[in-house]
Amino acid sequence: MAIGAAGLLVLIVALVVAEGLRQGRDAKPLPGQSLRELGQPRGLSIGTAVRVDALRNQKAYRQLVAAQFSSVTPENEMKWGLVEPERGKFRFEAADAIVDAAGSAGQAVRGHTLVYHHQLPGWLGGLGRAGLRAATEEHIRRVVGHYRGRVAVWDVVNEVIGDRGGLRRSPFAAKLGPDYIAQAFRAARRADPAARLHINEAGADAINPRSDRLYALVRSLKASGVPIDGVGLQMHVDLAGVPPTYVANLRRFAALGVELAITEADVALKLPASAADLRAQARVYRTIVRGCLAVKACRSLTFWGFTDGRSWISETRSGLGAATLLDAALRPKPAFRAVQRALRR
Ligand code: XIL
Repeated sequence: MAIGAAGLLVLIVALVVAEGLRQGRDAKPLPGQSLRELGQPRGLSIGTAVRVDALRNQKAYRQLVAAQFSSVTPENEMKWGLVEPERGKFRFEAADAIVDAAGSAGQAVRGHTLVYHHQLPGWLGGLGRAGLRAATEEHIRRVVGHYRGRVAVWDVVNEVIGDRGGLRRSPFAAKLGPDYIAQAFRAARRADPAARLHINEAGADAINPRSDRLYALVRSLKASGVPIDGVGLQMHVDLAGVPPTYVANLRRFAALGVELAITEADVALKLPASAADLRAQARVYRTIVRGCLAVKACRSLTFWGFTDGRSWISETRSGLGAATLLDAALRPKPAFRAVQRALRR
């Protein structure tokens, strides 16, 4: 049955309206200068973790990412299990969408992450030593190769140190031995010689056994000529704040001749968060920004999401949340203004 020209027009209008509703409203502009503008004269790139579903479906989210940040990190979309769910079959659509959007917004991309013990594909578990070695080389070659020239920095390995300061006994360490780290860096360098290669670590934000071990590792990698350009410190913290050795820690890494990045900053609060908690959170964010600004080698600062409506803390840590700069309705919290002020002065 033909629907006729008028029917077709009605259908098209209905589809456009439905899409408009799905995408929601425009973002309410945030007060003052954008974080990316404020970071620029300080030589600091300001980033956020992003999610492809939000970029695709929520206009206000997409607008704020473009307006406020000079760098983005795919929160999950480049992880091994998502990008290579079946061996040798790569699914780049989600990560491509993020990288394309970043290109349009004039943003750098941090690739996250190539070798990580979480969010691995099931098929990896069945591999023995030789199989895992080949699969890891191939994974790095294909993923880094796919984004050659478009991903500025890679978190080549993530969280390789355990909580007590030894090398984490991941499947990679267990099957390949500690040399898997150096091999991952070499494979990444071959696949994109221009990308900067970082080691990214959790809980190594200040001087402690974990950062001591990381420091020793980075020093020995450098000494053996492994192509490593930088160190990323995640900075998932709470109101206990950032230990006073934060800046001294940044300085000792900088002295190794590597660049530094704060890669996943957020400040978890106990829910419900009071006004005083939000003010205390703003002070913690201020400390994080100031510390990075105090050390020349600290060139980029990324928040692990920018809205409480889409934050892994609310989603995965029971009783905790409100960890980011904007509330769930994308309104600025005291933390947002504190970051602006810290960047300005
Ligand atoms: C987290 C994501 O934010 C979540 O959406 C996902 O469910 C689990 O992983 N350190 C890292 C990140 O390096 O990859 C983690 O991201 C958070 C901790």
